[in-house]
Amino acid sequence: MRSLLFVPGDSPRKLEKAQGAGADALIIDLEDSIAPARKAEARASTLAFLKEFGQAVERPRLFVRVNAIATGLIDADLDAVLAGRPDAIMLPKAEGGASIVHLDAKLAAREALHGLPDGHTRIVALTTETAKALFLAGTYAGASARLAGLTWGAEDLSAELGAEANRDAAGHFLDPYRLARCLCLAAAAASQVPAIDTVYVDFRNEAGLRREAEEARRDGFTAKLAIHPAQIAIINAVFTPTAEAIARAKAVVAAFAAEPGAGVVGIGGVMYDRPHLARAQQVLARAQS
Ligand code: COA
Ligand code: MG
Repeated sequence: MRSLLFVPGDSPRKLEKAQGAGADALIIDLEDSIAPARKAEARASTLAFLKEFGQAVERPRLFVRVNAIATGLIDADLDAVLAGRPDAIMLPKAEGGASIVHLDAKLAAREALHGLPDGHTRIVALTTETAKALFLAGTYAGASARLAGLTWGAEDLSAELGAEANRDAAGHFLDPYRLARCLCLAAAAASQVPAIDTVYVDFRNEAGLRREAEEARRDGFTAKLAIHPAQIAIINAVFTPTAEAIARAKAVVAAFAAEPGAGVVGIGGVMYDRPHLARAQQVLARAQS
């Protein structure tokens, strides 16, 4: 999974367009992109879309972003969409492992009601949207076998912090959001799930998106959220291991295979030890999927 495209759940036009966008996953949104008066309509069109497009043989994964636990809207969201067998639910404003356990229980009850296998519905969490959540980033590991990825957000956090901006004039995230990004990355690694980088809202700026995606890949993120179809090709390209990266990884794996007892090898005048082997194996696993 490299690219995940947000699609407002109340827009049949965008739901239609999203099908051919090339994203690895679609995140049908019932939360921030839907006005309060349109939640019910969005639930209905989301369910219809899941039922229809879910049947397609070749399709991206279908996720639904529900409203946060504290809103009181999440139960109606789940009641409406679980019958459409979404592959995962995205939980906004998650606050640590306890909120994942909470959602896990809500999902288990609905899976039973709809005759779905227990655990069918995975969870992807937005980990940094409240100030409190930052202090709970270390609590996701082991919360639920449903957990399939962690991502982060800067918009809700900047509102909660009372900030004037979250990026500098050159478009780089400011310190509070760089901290949030790092906490998400560490939380994902600790939980052994993919780290998914946040959205790039300046959707006409291709160079800016590419730079941010490359920085994310460099640091260990393996995917990025998108808000516009034009962002998908760039994100997919950045997060697909290049032929050069694959060749390098294969060389490292081969060098260790040739010396089974070795903790460290030299290739072309450079030292490679066990962490390099682990990284090479991760690259090859991503190249295969
Ligand atoms: N999914 C599917 N299709 C989309 C899309 C999306 N996220 N964003 C845009 N499109 C479609 C548009 O419908 C349009 O197609 P059309 O002209 O044939 O109707 C085409 O792509 C080009 O869109 P464009 O005119 O460049 O943008 P816009 O002004 O229509 O939309 C946004 C801009 C930001 C409103 C829109 O991209 C959007 O809704 N993004 C998702 C927002 C969201 O879900 N936010 C919550 C998470 S942060
Ligand atoms: Mg939000």
